[in-house]
Amino acid sequence: MDKNIENLVIPEHVAIILDGNGRWAKKRGLPRSLGHKEGCVTVEKTVEDAARLGIKYLTVYGFSTENWKRSKEEVGALMQLFRYYMVRLLKVAKANNVRVKMIGDRERFDQDIIEGIEKLVEQTKDNTGLTFVIAVNYGGRDEILRAAKKILKDGQEGRLLPEDMTEQIFTSYLDTADIPDPDLLIRTSGELRLSNYLLWQLAYTELYVTDCYWPDFNQDELIRAIEAYNSRERRFGGVK
Ligand code: IPE
Ligand code: IPE
Ligand code: MG
Repeated sequence: MDKNIENLVIPEHVAIILDGNGRWAKKRGLPRSLGHKEGCVTVEKTVEDAARLGIKYLTVYGFSTENWKRSKEEVGALMQLFRYYMVRLLKVAKANNVRVKMIGDRERFDQDIIEGIEKLVEQTKDNTGLTFVIAVNYGGRDEILRAAKKILKDGQEGRLLPEDMTEQIFTSYLDTADIPDPDLLIRTSGELRLSNYLLWQLAYTELYVTDCYWPDFNQDELIRAIEAYNSRERRFGGVK
């Protein structure tokens, strides 16, 4: 790996829409839940790869606010997997000096899952390596709405005046308050849409889509995405 990446600029924050678990399973005549299981293995490996590459923030979309619309069986399987995976992730995070954060509305999960999330975040909060952000029951619109509610409340109670509102202050109300905007967004499985992911934060992020299904994603794919990022001329609306 080192030989390939020597001359690459490593993006500080990589966000991923992991997609294609279902199609990966279908292609093999397997149930969708097995695709999700395999997808979890890929998440774990990607965390390790990102830490090794020196990426500072990795944010993955694990479950969207719209994913509750899936069948009861699939949602149930995903919740079970999440329970199991949080225990594994705690080990991986400790072994790799990874700090775990969660974005999204946890209130909708069962109590034991909420406690699992809190434990994972609490026990890794002092780690100084990669910050691994998991978006669960996350939707960009939901996040902005929750921020708007908090802002209105602070306004009503006299803590915030309309004339004081800035992009920076608005950002501080989002789930990602202390996380820089992503530099690179990777979506697997070929779909060309955002699916309600980080709508505010992706304003000037470079986009990269691969046809590879998420369970097949690996270190080489990650490096290819970073190589593509290196070939981009980043612009933020101005001219060079
Ligand atoms: C991504 O894979 C995982 C989640 C959204 C939880 P999908 O389950 O969306 O897989 P496809 O898109 O149906 O192949
Ligand atoms: C996006 O994938 C959500 C997650 C990866 C958690 P989906 O498969 O749910 O998105 P759509 O339905 O293709 O837009
Ligand atoms: Mg999908």
